[in-house]
Amino acid sequence: MSYYMKSIAVIYGTSGDNTKSVATKIVQHLGHATLLDVAQLKPEAFLNYDVLILGTSTWGVGDILDEWESLLPSVKTLSLSGKTLAFFGLGDSASYSDTFVDGMGHLYEAFQSSGARLVGSVDTSGYDFEASRAVVDGRFVGLALDEDNEYDQTDARIAAWMDELLPIFE
Ligand SMILES: Cc1cc2nc3c(=O)[nH]c(=O)nc-3n(C[C@H](O)[C@H](O)[C@H](O)COP(=O)(O)O)c2cc1C
Repeated sequence: MSYYMKSIAVIYGTSGDNTKSVATKIVQHLGHATLLDVAQLKPEAFLNYDVLILGTSTWGVGDILDEWESLLPSVKTLSLSGKTLAFFGLGDSASYSDTFVDGMGHLYEAFQSSGARLVGSVDTSGYDFEASRAVVDGRFVGLALDEDNEYDQTDARIAAWMDELLPIFE
């Protein structure tokens, strides 16, 4: 019997390393996955993986990181059908309650019509914020994390998300 293990990449954009630290934890949960920094990524790298887990923090007021913004136009030209994508986003729900994890919303929008399967939406209950571009149909489009105010919940939130996603990635 042949056994095919899906190739997984966790690609993060970070300014102060919080998103890198979360990406590292996600890789540890997955067991086998490649950790990649979007700042050093060629767009074609997307084609090398079956599953791509994409993360960004939010800067300015609701902005995605520059490194993602400059890569996305090229990635959008690639054919990603057959691939599975999931998103995670870091933000500050106290200081930026109206733009909480908006960067993840930008990421999601970039891949909405890519042909890829988008998975991993998360219930907004348990979070305290006013508005977010990353909420679609009442759910976060991916895993929202707040290292500034709710760092003590990060590990449990990652673990719960992984419990849902791991069976999908098998
Ligand atoms: C100048 C500045 C602007 C920010 N703007 C937002 C924002 O609009 N929305 C949000 O949710 N978080 C915002 N944040 C919070 C960061 O996204 C958060 O601290 C995150 O953990 C940083 O992750 P990183 O170290 O991976 O870049 C902002 C932080 C700073 C310092």
